[in-house]
Amino acid sequence: MDTTQFLTQYLVSRRHTNSLKWDALEKKFGSADLTAMWVADMEFKTCPAITAALEERVAHGVYGYTLIPDSYYDAVIGWHKRRHGYTLKREWFRFSSGVVNALYSLINALTQPGDGVLILTPVYYPFHYAINDTGRTLYTSDLIADESGRYSIDFTDVEATLRSGRVRMFILCNPHNPVSRVWSEDELTRLFALCKEYDVQIISDEIHQDIIPGSLPFTPALRVANGKYQDRIIVVNSASKSFNLASLLHSHLFIPNENVRKQYMAYMKTLGQIEPNALSITATEAAYTYGDDWLDALIDVIRQNAVTFSRLLKEAAPKLIITPLEGTYLCWVDFRAYLAPEATKAFLQDTCGVAVDFGEWFAPNCQGFARFNLATDPAIVEDVARRIGEGLTGR
Ligand SMILES: Cc1ncc(COP(=O)(O)O)c(C=O)c1O
Repeated sequence: MDTTQFLTQYLVSRRHTNSLKWDALEKKFGSADLTAMWVADMEFKTCPAITAALEERVAHGVYGYTLIPDSYYDAVIGWHKRRHGYTLKREWFRFSSGVVNALYSLINALTQPGDGVLILTPVYYPFHYAINDTGRTLYTSDLIADESGRYSIDFTDVEATLRSGRVRMFILCNPHNPVSRVWSEDELTRLFALCKEYDVQIISDEIHQDIIPGSLPFTPALRVANGKYQDRIIVVNSASKSFNLASLLHSHLFIPNENVRKQYMAYMKTLGQIEPNALSITATEAAYTYGDDWLDALIDVIRQNAVTFSRLLKEAAPKLIITPLEGTYLCWVDFRAYLAPEATKAFLQDTCGVAVDFGEWFAPNCQGFARFNLATDPAIVEDVARRIGEGLTGR
């Protein structure tokens, strides 16, 4: 399917559908008239096979207590084998009602109040919240950007932080929201070796694993060095980003280490038993069974949107630094060559009429940056890029 066919079939307007992204603009940004390029979901209907599976399930009309069928595990295992090159074991699986929810549980289950948890900043802001809200101590290591806006890890700083001996857990984001890096196997090996040396539990948030518009391959944590670090890694992921299913509230934890699994389950027991929602199971199984072609077409749309956005912005304002899109559909832009950091928000909202995720949400020192969601109508991407260009150049 080419991108024109994809857009004809799946692009929708989401205003007045109780969409957080479009219908909370007034509440969140103070104006309902903005163009929404913030929250990480999409203006595309999901893969038709998912909707068909849900329709069939709903037509049954019974929503009693439900088992997770073998076919579900086969679908998830098959997807990770086919698209990510590793073999999940069924006993590793645990479920939660969202990746963020899983992060909170894992922090609570595997660390103690006051323990240090390390993240690489700027990063998805609920990582900060999860650490602070659970009374753990937040440790950050700033990623370093080169002139092109491509980020890398400051290994010296990471090691110095781990050497302090207070960090018990490291939460990785791969692909990294908001800076879109797909971490290389070499980078991951170095990070994991450090975590091993300092006995730190690794949590790898791989929710964006399927959206790789760039040319570098995504390396899943459990595959690094042929699985050498599996025992200290927990992967959290979901079909929700890839297939626009966020409100179905379903995600996976893959926990290879049996003792860690027990520790996690002991904590979960204190919250009461948690079983996944039947409709989420149906949707995820259909996504991972039938979703390949739909997803590939989606990635083409995102890639084209990224090319257009970057080209139009650069033509108008060559000193903008637009981080190359390796993974995710989220584009990170540095406006500081044109704007005082504290003026960026008003410029984007009031002058350009666009709602974005502002840089300071991801790290206090990132005022002057903004994150744009490109999983949307190409007409929106063009229009917003033009408005920004005109706003910056006064044309
Ligand atoms: C890195 C990352 N983790 C988790 C989430 C949210 O996951 P969930 O909706 O399953 O809590 C997002 C959403 O944007 C994200 O970017």
